[in-house]
Amino acid sequence: MSRKEDLLKLEAKYCSWGDTVHYTSQLDIFNRAEGIYLYDIRGVEYLDLQMWYSAANFGYKNPRLNEALKRQIDRLPQLASKYLHEEKILLAAKLAQRVEKTFGVKGRVHFSVGGASAIEDSLKIVRNHTKKNLAFAFMGGYHGRTLGASAITSSYRYRERFGHFSDRALFIPYPYAFRHSRHKKLEAYGRECVSDFKRLFDTEYHGVANPKTGNCEFGAFYIEPVQGTGGYIVPPRNYFSGLKKVLDRYNVLMVDDEIQMGFYRTGKFLAIEHFNVVPDIIAFGKSLTNGLNPLSGIWAKEGLISPKVFPPGSTHSTFSSNPLGTAAALETMRLIEDDEEYFKREVPKKGAYFVSRLKKLQKKYPVMGDVDGLGLAIRVEMCRKDGFTPNRELTDAMTNIGLSGNLKTGGKRRGLILDVGGYYKNVFTLAPSLYIQEKEIDLAIDLFEEVLQKGIAKTSHGKAASFSSVSMSA
Ligand SMILES: Cc1ncc(COP(=O)(O)O)c(C=O)c1O
Repeated sequence: MSRKEDLLKLEAKYCSWGDTVHYTSQLDIFNRAEGIYLYDIRGVEYLDLQMWYSAANFGYKNPRLNEALKRQIDRLPQLASKYLHEEKILLAAKLAQRVEKTFGVKGRVHFSVGGASAIEDSLKIVRNHTKKNLAFAFMGGYHGRTLGASAITSSYRYRERFGHFSDRALFIPYPYAFRHSRHKKLEAYGRECVSDFKRLFDTEYHGVANPKTGNCEFGAFYIEPVQGTGGYIVPPRNYFSGLKKVLDRYNVLMVDDEIQMGFYRTGKFLAIEHFNVVPDIIAFGKSLTNGLNPLSGIWAKEGLISPKVFPPGSTHSTFSSNPLGTAAALETMRLIEDDEEYFKREVPKKGAYFVSRLKKLQKKYPVMGDVDGLGLAIRVEMCRKDGFTPNRELTDAMTNIGLSGNLKTGGKRRGLILDVGGYYKNVFTLAPSLYIQEKEIDLAIDLFEEVLQKGIAKTSHGKAASFSSVSMSA
């Protein structure tokens, strides 16, 4: 029995299956990472187009960030979160100063460990300030899987087996032009989506507000500037500013979840910077440490988080503001500052190149129903040959083919790592390293085409799409 088989046998018996490993039938065991590549225990190289769900934006084993972590391990590796250390203070200052410079608003930063726990802390800030425990959130939105985060995450699947959620959000449709817009111009669609939301406040019978008192039953609206797990959907540029006007009228806070889209994934430090709006609370995590020691947190406007209103002990976690996390995060912030011009210029440029190459493929394969993106957050929505009906079967087949590590493109055995999101689980959510080069994008395109052709050959809908005339690229 091979090492891989031995390990998979142990995994089947001793690992909980309650996480997401068994979403795919193809299981592999990785033991090395470098830049944009992962390597399995056989030594096969996988081009990674998801980078740990965008938690490793700056490349695997980034030498500068790894060094910062190593230095911290040798100096101050552990410290209880009730004591102060330099990295925590400098990091909070950098984040708050950056938000102030961008949006002209003063605030503070509160640290936690994972994304969902930062969302929990933000829910406390909202409740504390508004005295309301209900929130709006988006259909297709994802904020994590703790109980509080599950209540504002639209999938009932995540709540179904865990009792009644009295504070379940009211889920509002996310602007999703590919599936829902009747308009040619995105601006018009954006306005229509804002009007639809605004209409909820017109009469008491929509169950949202009392027009006589102007009081709304909901304390906050949780948004993702680009919907992540929902399928990297980019809303019209005028949408969030229109939405915020409605929210402000009813004192509803806007909580901007940047956990997946922050840290230059979309070509800006925060994705919300594309939308000409100032949020009240911002949640961040994932790439803050480039996926090294976990650290997450929230920024909130001073009035919501000043010690007067959010006093000591309002939240606590043993590992919040852990020194390894803050050291990695501080170095991430310094790296961003030093290379800011590169990220500003190259992320949109590489994103546009990637999208243009995918759009060329789309002409050949109408099953690629939608290709879109913002910076290096790119979506490819897989459909039947009508280019619209969701095709999960093909998406799953392609994911497993990529993970099998048996691709031949470039004359070498390789794999391709694709992550899947979307309302119908039919969207490849591509989040490559922000340092990806053009020739690596070319390789990604060739690998994607190989996976697509093999997927089409393997699935019934693909066969119906009859691509037998298309020759393999390698
Ligand atoms: C937008 C968003 N919010 C929150 C979370 C939850 O973060 P975590 O998995 O670290 O709890 C995620 C994770 O994918 C996310 O994409």
